[in-house]
Amino acid sequence: MSIDEIIQKVLTARIFKDRERLRPDYVPENLPHREREINRLAEILAPAVKGARPSNAFIYGLPGTGKTAVTRYVLRKIDSYSKNYAPSVGLRFAYINCRNENTNYRVLFTLCCCLDEKVPFTGLSTAELFRRFVRTLNTQRMLFFVVLDEVDFLVKVSGDDVLYKLTRINPELHEARLSIIGITNDLNFVEYLDPRVKSSLGEEELVFRPYTTEELADILLQRARTAFNEGVLEESVIPLCASLAAREHGDARRALDLLRVAAEIAEREGSPRVLEEHVRRAYGEIEKDRAVEIVKSMPLHTKLVVAAVYLLRNKKCEATTGEIYDAYKSLCRKLMMDELTQRRISDILNELDMLGVVNAKVTSKGRYGRTKVVRLAISEKALIDGLKSDVRLSSFLSCEILG
Ligand SMILES: Nc1ncnc2c1ncn2[C@@H]1O[C@H](COP(=O)(O)OP(=O)(O)OP(=O)(O)O)[C@@H](O)[C@H]1O
Ligand SMILES: [Mg+2]
Repeated sequence: MSIDEIIQKVLTARIFKDRERLRPDYVPENLPHREREINRLAEILAPAVKGARPSNAFIYGLPGTGKTAVTRYVLRKIDSYSKNYAPSVGLRFAYINCRNENTNYRVLFTLCCCLDEKVPFTGLSTAELFRRFVRTLNTQRMLFFVVLDEVDFLVKVSGDDVLYKLTRINPELHEARLSIIGITNDLNFVEYLDPRVKSSLGEEELVFRPYTTEELADILLQRARTAFNEGVLEESVIPLCASLAAREHGDARRALDLLRVAAEIAEREGSPRVLEEHVRRAYGEIEKDRAVEIVKSMPLHTKLVVAAVYLLRNKKCEATTGEIYDAYKSLCRKLMMDELTQRRISDILNELDMLGVVNAKVTSKGRYGRTKVVRLAISEKALIDGLKSDVRLSSFLSCEILG
């Protein structure tokens, strides 16, 4: 295809009206099926427009249930109210995604930047940084909202020291007040938070439940109205995206991704409409990417365990835990690494089963009793793509696995 043809195809493409509307960070004008959560959060935060410090809030729920979108939506409203009606309150916001700012230093650095306090990017102690932050807060009368989204990343990487200090900061302040909104999709995280942090962060708690298939369909329909030209979606496209995205738990991000990728596939092919078949292909692509990402983020020994399952698949499609352990040990020897115990490998296999990377089931083997057999549950290509990106494995794998 020539450049002219490529550009011509884009110019004549009729599928998207505004593709930005399907991007993950776009906050839509309304959020169907989250009225209750929006109102609840608004009730908690609204005292701010009159200058009172709102309670801290802790929001949790599975991925893609609208936590970030609802929080940004409510904050945006409160911000515009306070600017118009109560500028003297001095409302300020900091939105921090702790997946990116995942150390105590970086969080404090970002908070200082939000208050226009110049601090060095590295080099101070966090205690000193915290002192400067408090000092700056105290120079003005203000109400400062700190949103720590995906806060589990911060605590896992850097501990809960800053979180603890922030929840205890108000008695140290004169004219300023600070409220925290913590958000997480890791439900176990709540359990290993320091109980003192947990109780002060969770002055108010909001739980976001997964969407149902019908709710996802409504969400998609509403986004589709502004994102696509009229009539380009085959009727079954939205219900199919919704039901595929609800398979594990009702995740709006997955539903929107599916719709966007399906439309992109249709557009690439020059199809005038998005069809069911495009959604199915989009599902395949997304699942593969997800599997690759899961494998990439595994610790080294977990990667070796999946590699062992993969290597055994040629002999038979299912392997026992004993066989996997032997194969894993021989990989460790080749890499000149110490091996983990069989008990630990058995735990890793259970984790992999929960992640959907392998299927494990217990079968009865006649007089030898019961044994667990394991098979790979993701595509081989996804597995290899995921493992290849690890430099420690790539050269070794190229002869061992890629053959
Ligand atoms: N009720 C809704 N109406 C319209 N769009 C929604 C709704 N809920 C979520 N979305 C959209 O779905 C996507 C995912 O939502 P969001 O980012 O808020 O999820 P989350 O709960 O923060 O997930 P995670 O825990 O992974 O961060 C976003 O693009 C968001 O705009
Ligand atoms: Mg989020």
